[in-house]
Amino acid sequence: MNKTIDFDLVADLYDNYVQTDFDIAFFKELCKEYHNILELMCGTGRVSLPLIESGYPLTCVDYSAEMLRVFRRKLDASKHDKIICQDVCNLDLGEQFDLVMIPFNSIAEITDAEKRKQAIYSIYRHLLPGGKFFCTLYHPAYRVKSADGNIKALGKFPLENDKTLMVTYYNNYSDKDKIISGTQFYEIYDGKNTLIEKRYLDIRFSVISRDEMQIAASEAGFSLKEVYGDYQGNPYSNESMFMNFLFEKQPE
Ligand SMILES: C[S@@+](CC[C@H](N)C(=O)[O-])C[C@H]1O[C@@H](n2cnc3c(N)ncnc32)[C@H](O)[C@@H]1O
Repeated sequence: MNKTIDFDLVADLYDNYVQTDFDIAFFKELCKEYHNILELMCGTGRVSLPLIESGYPLTCVDYSAEMLRVFRRKLDASKHDKIICQDVCNLDLGEQFDLVMIPFNSIAEITDAEKRKQAIYSIYRHLLPGGKFFCTLYHPAYRVKSADGNIKALGKFPLENDKTLMVTYYNNYSDKDKIISGTQFYEIYDGKNTLIEKRYLDIRFSVISRDEMQIAASEAGFSLKEVYGDYQGNPYSNESMFMNFLFEKQPE
């Protein structure tokens, strides 16, 4: 399978350098109202795991077998087996949900606009009438501002056996095709600060405008309920960092 960003290459390191939990309380609150929830692009379960542990009925999908392997290792398999390896653009689960959600701006990884539309149609088909689709994105201007071509440090993270992981990256923005592309560099040092391994991961995101997202969703049959600018429930404005959409599949 051809992946936009091949997280298989760094799945074993992902939980070490992505430890943020700024959105977990929001998702716990959002999910309270729903009985059958589908989380797409779940990765190693950063958002899924706290929700499953709180008892929410979650099905999780990602197309990276390695990210899902890390996720499964963290779960008590007897408690949860609804972790499915599929491409969101060709989703076929044979089931309908009352909430579908995509945390952590991950829909932007579908950089082909036609495939993104295909994914939104698939999501629509997987929702019950009246079901909701919650889709997170960054505010486009905020996203573009950080793509200045400069090498930046993401951080220095402890690994097991006295090793250290250093992650750096650069991003560039192409206004012509509304794509941010770049590379992340991963360096692993031993206890004597000697470099023992180096990897890189090419990255590629779309910068998706509010209009584009709304049009694609409305063409699929969704109506817009709300656009939030943060994870506290405040409305989206030009100053917001985030642009989180709540859509509804028309009730029958
Ligand atoms: C940035 S990671 C986010 C993972 C997780 N949601 C989190 O918050 O840490 C994006 C994930 O989306 C997955 N992904 C990207 N495109 C996909 C697609 N078309 N179908 C399924 N998964 C996809 C990647 O494999 C990766 O695990």
